[in-house]
Amino acid sequence: MNPYTLADTMTDKGNVTIPKLSESNMGFGVLGVFLGLLLEVSTHGPHAIPRTSWKHRDPEVMEFSEPGIFNYSTLLLSDERDALYVGAREAIFELSKKNVTVRNNKVLWQVGESPIAMCTLKGKSKETDCLNYIRVLQVVDDQRLYVCGTHAFQPQCDYLTLADFSLEGRAEDGRGKCSFDPSQSFTAVMVDGELYSGTAYNFLGSEPIISRYSPSPYMLRTEYSTSWLNEPSFVFADVIREGENSADGEDDKIYYFFTEVSVEYEFFGNLLIPRVARVCKGDQGGQRTLQKKWTSFLKAKLVCSMPELNFVFNVVHDVFILKGARLRDTVIYGVFTSQWGNVGLSAVCAYNMSAVDEVFSKGKYMQKATVEQSHTKWVRYNGITPSPRPGACINSHMRQKNINSSLHLPDKTLQFVKDHPLLEDPVLPIGNRPRLITKDVNYTQVVVERVRALDESIYDVIFTGTDKGVLHKSVVLGGEVHMVEEIQLLKNSEPIKNLLLSSDTRSLYAGSDSGVVQSPTAFCSRYQSCDDCILARDPYCAWDPQTSHCVKISEIPSQQLRRLIQSLNGDADKCPKAPVLSLKDYQRVSVKPGSSAELPCLVRSNAAQVTWKSNGSLLTEASPFHFIRENGLLIYSVAAEDQGRYECWSVEFASAVGKNFTRLLAGYILTLDVPHTSDTFQTHGVEGKVVADGVLTSALAPQNFTAAVQLTSPPRSSLTPSSGTEWPPEPHVPPESSSPEAEYLQRSNGTALLFLFLLFFLLFLAAVAYNCYMQYLPPPCLRLRAALLGTHKKSEAAQPEYSACEAGLMDTASDKIAATSRPPQNSSTNLRALRDTGYETEPEYVNGRVPSHGFGDESPSPQKPFDVDGDSQSIQFADADEPYC
Ligand SMILES: *[C@@H]1O[C@H](CO)[C@@H](O)[C@H](O)[C@H]1NC(C)=O
Ligand SMILES: *[C@@H]1O[C@H](CO)[C@@H](O)[C@H](O)[C@H]1NC(C)=O
Ligand SMILES: *[C@@H]1O[C@H](CO)[C@@H](O)[C@H](O)[C@H]1NC(C)=O
Ligand SMILES: *[C@@H]1O[C@H](CO)[C@@H](O)[C@H](O)[C@H]1NC(C)=O
Ligand SMILES: *[C@@H]1O[C@H](CO)[C@@H](O)[C@H](O)[C@H]1NC(C)=O
Repeated sequence: MNPYTLADTMTDKGNVTIPKLSESNMGFGVLGVFLGLLLEVSTHGPHAIPRTSWKHRDPEVMEFSEPGIFNYSTLLLSDERDALYVGAREAIFELSKKNVTVRNNKVLWQVGESPIAMCTLKGKSKETDCLNYIRVLQVVDDQRLYVCGTHAFQPQCDYLTLADFSLEGRAEDGRGKCSFDPSQSFTAVMVDGELYSGTAYNFLGSEPIISRYSPSPYMLRTEYSTSWLNEPSFVFADVIREGENSADGEDDKIYYFFTEVSVEYEFFGNLLIPRVARVCKGDQGGQRTLQKKWTSFLKAKLVCSMPELNFVFNVVHDVFILKGARLRDTVIYGVFTSQWGNVGLSAVCAYNMSAVDEVFSKGKYMQKATVEQSHTKWVRYNGITPSPRPGACINSHMRQKNINSSLHLPDKTLQFVKDHPLLEDPVLPIGNRPRLITKDVNYTQVVVERVRALDESIYDVIFTGTDKGVLHKSVVLGGEVHMVEEIQLLKNSEPIKNLLLSSDTRSLYAGSDSGVVQSPTAFCSRYQSCDDCILARDPYCAWDPQTSHCVKISEIPSQQLRRLIQSLNGDADKCPKAPVLSLKDYQRVSVKPGSSAELPCLVRSNAAQVTWKSNGSLLTEASPFHFIRENGLLIYSVAAEDQGRYECWSVEFASAVGKNFTRLLAGYILTLDVPHTSDTFQTHGVEGKVVADGVLTSALAPQNFTAAVQLTSPPRSSLTPSSGTEWPPEPHVPPESSSPEAEYLQRSNGTALLFLFLLFFLLFLAAVAYNCYMQYLPPPCLRLRAALLGTHKKSEAAQPEYSACEAGLMDTASDKIAATSRPPQNSSTNLRALRDTGYETEPEYVNGRVPSHGFGDESPSPQKPFDVDGDSQSIQFADADEPYC
């Protein structure tokens, strides 16, 4: 059987089905994941490369910051006004959304002496923690905003009057609305005057809560229970309206997105799981059961994985909901990385809103079960679910049965939803795979815009921000995703903390610790030739043959649209035929004998291969020629025979049309300066006036043109900006990588790595086998052992998402690899230590009451309530199924 396929073992025990990792395949699973990760994903795995890279100094990028003010991480765009509201540390700004460098208003909100004193007393830093970080900026009505800040670890909220841009000074308690800790994850959204937030309810940040605050009598919140929320990192929340025309009178719903620690998987250490949770807007809590608690809180697993490589992206960092007219046109976009960050991959997954709705309205529930003295797990609930369906919003059907609000729901339904907030069915991405995978970046933010192209088709354009201040722009073209461009949006290499998009100003706004940046959504005018404009495949841009400019379609009057040229599959043959370049257009360069000559050639496209020709024949990189960064040509100690004609050619393959587009980027005529001429020709830094820039000259290229010289940009993945304001290293080939030695080195490195890896892996397998034999390893292994020794278990259909667990093994596995290099006793104690941690060994908390600490207990405590204390609970791995262990 395919070792990459990991089947689940399902054991039927009455009305519950226990999903487990397939023990008998565990070894293969680890192997598969290991090989898959190392060899497939990071070297040959699919990943997108931006075609064009722009510098930060692009004049179209506008920046705002004020001296002494930091953490511009909360942004709010006004629909009606020309305003971008910015919440920073101790300050709120109103900027013009047309031009963020224009500051229209500012208000300071600082913390008083006594809260600071309290905060420092509790051990927080006066300079950083005990300040007021504005984290909530939401519209209340057209005159006021609702504002909350961390306020020295005592969150407070207030109203901001827009007329005079001043705070009302009400100082409402912000507990549950805003985080205490400015660095803790957090989300909030205002819906019809009520604030929905996901944050921590206590000073320690250990009591997670999803809550709703309203002027109405009380707040509604989640149960304090690991089955409801288990160390979540909130990333996003938004409302999905059903609309008045909803056939069955369904309620509006608020969706939350977060990553939490899994309760349902057996795992070494903490396995993170991305989740989507939902509550109904009309929820009032229960009458007796779930009083002042959500009666509609349900959550499901979000899956973002590459099933064929067994690779799982299990940490969600941001979500954007692209709202369509109908539910089925609404798409949820999320950016993910893997918990095992060293792989260096980020992914964008898209989810169909109707599929999400389907899971919540029809999905099976899971339940917590203690199975025969084994450890606590979550299993599918196969019994009868009470009616009305637990967690469902009130609809016409229920109203007919006289259930007009959640207060009328029967106790049975409420008790059920209280104990079963987790659904078994996962939310699968559209196409069952990520839309986009990018190497060597950590995406932090995502926004998506639906763009109408020249041919009236609609395309989703995905903007992703990274932790290094870079913005990627990708377009979904049919099944494929093309990465149009990247730009170093922030001056410094720092995370993009917030990203917003405004269709009316056609701008993106990025907030970071050091400022706010505004950038256009497209840089069409930067493409200087027709083929560059077309090969970019940017749905915002088209070529105007009349003015010979690449233009933004949105800026062209509709009667002139017909003359524009756009081809989103990159067919540059649609461009008008360019005039053939004549020799007299070549730039003349004259150097002294023995000095060196630099011939620049600017290549915009990272997808293009560049070659140089002299006197019409291909140049190889033999002395005295040297291909330099930015694809220029450097000729050392120019001699008489080096004189002649030099041309820089680029070949770009447009995969969607299966054509190569060849063009001449620059042409030079190199001559020697006669020694007795007195004027010195400054060769260095000759302005690379690109001859024939933009002239498509496929006709000019010889028929037998082959790119033998690999002066290609190797797949480059991300910008690694150097410090300060320096634009990051030029994207194009570093000289080393194009030299044959370097290539050889890389290849032999790869082989050596593979060899080393296999060696370590064998050692690791040996260690596992030994420890398994010696019964040092925890149950999965024991079960493997049992399986090998003959216990038979039924394998059912493979579920790719379970590979999450297997993928997780990698973490531990690498630890073990380290262990194997030490003496055997060491490694076994190491492994023995492993088994005492991380299992789902929490005692059964009765309905969310965690024994150790009370509600909202603010006293510092050495252990977080949810932490599993490995030492205090000795675990007996006596599994009834495995008499051998
Ligand atoms: C606030 O900004 C400062 C300066 O850039 C940074 O060092 C700090 O980590 C930021 N704090 C938070 C909570 O984002
Ligand atoms: C979402 O699913 C529905 C029903 O399966 C389908 O009609 C719709 O086209 C899908 N939408 C998207 C954006 O894929
Ligand atoms: C991504 O983030 C992880 C963890 O913060 C870090 O170790 C890694 O170096 C980052 N990768 C890149 C390419 O920035
Ligand atoms: C190019 O041709 C000229 C004569 O046509 C010759 O002198 C020169 O050496 C040639 N240069 C190269 C680099 O081949
Ligand atoms: C395009 O050019 C590349 C090298 O420049 C070559 O390997 C490839 O075969 C060409 N493809 C087509 C379809 O001509």
